[in-house]
Amino acid sequence: MSQREQWSSKIGFILAAAGSAIGLGAIWKFPYIAGENGGGAFFLIFILFTLILGLPLLLAEFSIGRTAGSNAVDSYRKIAPGTKWHWVGVLGMVTSFILLSFYSVIGGWIVVYLFKAVTGQLNGLSSDQYAEVFGATISNPGISVFVQLLFILMTIIVVAKGIEKGIELASKIMMPALFILFILLVIRAVTLDGAAEGVTFLLQPDFSKVTSQTILEAMGQSFFTLSVGVSVMVTYSSYLPKTQSLPRSAISIVAMNIFIVLLAGLAIFPAVFAFDLEPGAGPVLLFNVLPTVFSQLPFGMLFFIAFLVLFLFAALTSAFSMLEIIVSVISKGDPGKRTKWSWIIGLAIFVCGIPSALSFGVLGDITLFGKTIFDLADFTVSNVLLPIGSLLIALFVPLKMKKTALYDELKQGSGLKRGLFETWFFLIRFVAPVLILFVMLDVLGVF
Ligand code: PFF
Repeated sequence: MSQREQWSSKIGFILAAAGSAIGLGAIWKFPYIAGENGGGAFFLIFILFTLILGLPLLLAEFSIGRTAGSNAVDSYRKIAPGTKWHWVGVLGMVTSFILLSFYSVIGGWIVVYLFKAVTGQLNGLSSDQYAEVFGATISNPGISVFVQLLFILMTIIVVAKGIEKGIELASKIMMPALFILFILLVIRAVTLDGAAEGVTFLLQPDFSKVTSQTILEAMGQSFFTLSVGVSVMVTYSSYLPKTQSLPRSAISIVAMNIFIVLLAGLAIFPAVFAFDLEPGAGPVLLFNVLPTVFSQLPFGMLFFIAFLVLFLFAALTSAFSMLEIIVSVISKGDPGKRTKWSWIIGLAIFVCGIPSALSFGVLGDITLFGKTIFDLADFTVSNVLLPIGSLLIALFVPLKMKKTALYDELKQGSGLKRGLFETWFFLIRFVAPVLILFVMLDVLGVF
């Protein structure tokens, strides 16, 4: 049996876990879902869910992973041998598979925009023209599938190289740069003429727009942005030495994520209102708005290119984690098998994702429950599979792990106070299962 890989440094783990969390969810998905759900109220509910469900669940996944020190399936097997709990890990693998199949579509959009920006095709257009060019590009079947493939190939190559060399290095350089560029973007957006309305839209809650669907979307979004419910964080923390403080890592990841969500909102909505665009434009929102904001900056296209590069990396670091969880289970931590399985699984995901890529063009008319193939894949993952995965993890921890052992695990390297631990345990044991079930049943109209 070969030795399990480990993160080479503390910061490496935080960056990689934060890299998994921060991605399209905060930057692309949050603005458009918030835009469709009335803005401020959605934002507030999202923050609440992130704090009372997302953060505790993240910590729960961390403690499972580090206690067991194994992959997403075997971790449950080790802690609860002879039971069916390892199916939680299998569910995570399935979720990850579907997730990457549509995530790569958006990843591909970034690639194609980058190409267009670098080759000067986006210079000096009006905001309507940006939307037109973009619409024409993503509805082209050849282009959308080709760039989706490119995105998946990049993911495969890094995951095939293994944990430390690949994921950690990429995360270390890219994340801080992304923050800086985002701040610049926000400064430009909020100083546009007519920006105030957008800031109000994001920060002033209007609860008259809140329905049970809004609440489900906000919950799904908080799981999505933190990568919880999939056992990705179980997998990542299993590579972690015992000296690292789990609570501190979880808190810093949540804080970074909320910060990026806020920055994304403050970059997008002021511009949407200043340029008279439509906040409920759906998945294309960010891609239509951003070039217009950048074109208002001196050297705008250069900044736009830099932004797209970083955005691509943010998306890739999340994509790595999706492929990683599946590869680590199937290759059983054997570095020799990693390359082969990264390719097989990555390409299988690509093939399954093609219909999602085509649903912005030739397959756009095919709908089920009023959703395109892309929307349906996204909905199934974000609003069904992630809540179910999270619910099961919230049940697993108090049922199958000893409270004293949990406290010891969480205390290592952190000196966690008993009171905080009890609060966390209460949230996981009672609040999380009840709330998740309630939100899901509410949408089905049970109440
Ligand atoms: N958190 C990622 C994002 O916001 O883009 C998406 C994600 C990655 C969700 C990995 C779940 C996951 F397991």
